[in-house]
Amino acid sequence: MARVKPTILIVDDHVEMARLLADQLGDAGYAPTVAASGVEAVALVKTRSFDVVVSDLRMEEVDGIDVLDAVHAVDPMTPVLIMTAFGGIESAVQAIKRGAYHYVAKPFQLDEVLVYVERALDERRVRDDHRALRRWAAERAGFGVLIGKSPAMQKLYALLERVAQSQAPVLIRGESGTGKERVARALHFEGPRKAAAFVAVNCTALPESLLESELFGHVRGAFTGATSSRRGLFAEADGGTLLLDEIGDMPPALQAKLLRVLEEGEVRAVGSDAPRKVDVRIVAATHQDLEERVRSGGFRQDLYYRLAVVPVAVPPLRDRIEDLPLLAEHFLARARERNPSSPVQRLAREAVAALGRWSWPGNVRELENLIERLVVIGVDDVVQSADVQALLPSVPGSAPLDDAKRAMVTLDQLEREYITWVISQCGGNKTRAAEILGIDVSTIYRRQRGSH
Ligand SMILES: Nc1ncnc2c1ncn2[C@@H]1O[C@H](COP(=O)(O)OP(=O)(O)OP(=O)(O)O)[C@@H](O)[C@H]1O
Ligand SMILES: [Mg+2]
Repeated sequence: MARVKPTILIVDDHVEMARLLADQLGDAGYAPTVAASGVEAVALVKTRSFDVVVSDLRMEEVDGIDVLDAVHAVDPMTPVLIMTAFGGIESAVQAIKRGAYHYVAKPFQLDEVLVYVERALDERRVRDDHRALRRWAAERAGFGVLIGKSPAMQKLYALLERVAQSQAPVLIRGESGTGKERVARALHFEGPRKAAAFVAVNCTALPESLLESELFGHVRGAFTGATSSRRGLFAEADGGTLLLDEIGDMPPALQAKLLRVLEEGEVRAVGSDAPRKVDVRIVAATHQDLEERVRSGGFRQDLYYRLAVVPVAVPPLRDRIEDLPLLAEHFLARARERNPSSPVQRLAREAVAALGRWSWPGNVRELENLIERLVVIGVDDVVQSADVQALLPSVPGSAPLDDAKRAMVTLDQLEREYITWVISQCGGNKTRAAEILGIDVSTIYRRQRGSH
């Protein structure tokens, strides 16, 4: 790609002087524009932006300081170089105090101006890159409400970004506490349905008959106790998203009814003959092995295919242990808000490392609860690794080998645990861990996925 020439505005009421400078800057590879007065310059900077402004200080009516202010009113980051004619070093210093990038005293060598212009542009580029990087990092630290920037989560975000825009049913899988409900919310709030409702229902929590009327609604008098009619969650989620959480626990009779709703796009309230059209995006979640439930006859295969159009796997925390420090910080901040009288301010590095050695069978929820406990019972401003170990007695103080020996695990398991441990010792840096382990970093990713 051809590099765009940096634009420079040259402001001087000595037009010849300005033209001369413009020619020379043009030869040096810049795209100069001349303003023959402060008034002209102020009008110009309101209509277009310049990478650098070079302005004379002393001008009739509108002087260099006014130009400086006008430029910075539009973009405070634009470097403004001030040219000053008489030894007015004082006024030049004033200009710098007001935010000018630098000043050159007339008469000057072109080289002098060039050096400052180049330096200003370089600094600006670095700053812009830095800002872009920070913005990118901030965005990439999460997708919507999700936290984590591990490769596993990046992969998930990339998938969610595409899926959020579609209407296809999504099946979210993942161990308990991995954030399945969060993922469902992110899908809704990052997608085109965000203005409508996000409704979640847990299929485990309710007995079959109640779940049915909860989902599809009921008319008054449909059954004993139905003293008024109810719209049902499908109707509430119309235009939005309905999360069917723990779908694996949905009773078979309801599975059949749900399948019909999905096929026909309409619901029938309990006790009513009149179907109602609904436009609901279905997101189902489960921690169960749904294929196994299908094989054993507990879950309808046809419904399974309907729901699992897009499978989304949420990784367990131990497979993205490098996200732990970030998550721990997040939960610490929230726990501190909830417990303002707690003296706990932060976690010692060693404490975070100790957290990284735990296997987190309860995943993110377990971490969240543990941090809350640390904040509630903490008596010091800094949480130490001993405090963590007091709550997680089986966290190995050193290498995981001791535990492994006790439990007599397979080499495979030991390898996985050891890799995880070394990563946590390296503060989540997998490249560094790979160096220590003497293996390729891609091997780490492969092993953590459980393939060889
Ligand atoms: N990536 C994440 N960023 C921030 N918080 C998270 C993340 N993942 C999970 N959490 C938090 O962890 C807790 C558990 O998440 P969630 O309820 O979504 O998990 P789940 O997979 O639905 O669990 P279960 O299978 O037990 O229902 C919640 O408090 C949630 O806010
Ligand atoms: Mg859940």
